[in-house]
Amino acid sequence: PTILVLNGPNLNLLGVREPSLYGSATLGDVEEACRERAGLLGYDVDFRQSNHEGTLIDWIQEARGSAIGIVLNAGAYTHTSVAIRDALKSADLPVIEVHLSNVFKREPFRHHSYISDVAAGVICGFGTNSYVLAIEALAGIVDAAKE
Ligand code: DQA
Repeated sequence: PTILVLNGPNLNLLGVREPSLYGSATLGDVEEACRERAGLLGYDVDFRQSNHEGTLIDWIQEARGSAIGIVLNAGAYTHTSVAIRDALKSADLPVIEVHLSNVFKREPFRHHSYISDVAAGVICGFGTNSYVLAIEALAGIVDAAKE
């Protein structure tokens, strides 16, 4: 079973981009941490990043049938994209919203998310560990549904 981990715009620059906010880990480091934790829990990871809203939507649509759930850091699209929200609603899969930074400590425009209320839960503020916690949460939801 595969967990889709989706990353939105500018996350390819992780480690280089505003390290005081986002830390020095690269997206490759985040991927490795996700694979390691998911592997221990018996899941594969399909880890992707795109700067393009439509590409992210295509991947969410394709996840139906191929993934058991989605861990999503939509980057700035979190705060703007009704289209990503709609795609998540029709994917009919559990979604965990993640952010590296604590968005509630930041500018007011980052306090609203179009994704939170269609997600099973939200994890933010723990850097790379936000993703690891999200993998654990998703595995917990999927394992509980099997019982
Ligand atoms: C982010 C928070 C967003 O507000 C921002 O636009 C990002 C990264 C995070 O992981 O902390 O690109 O999603």
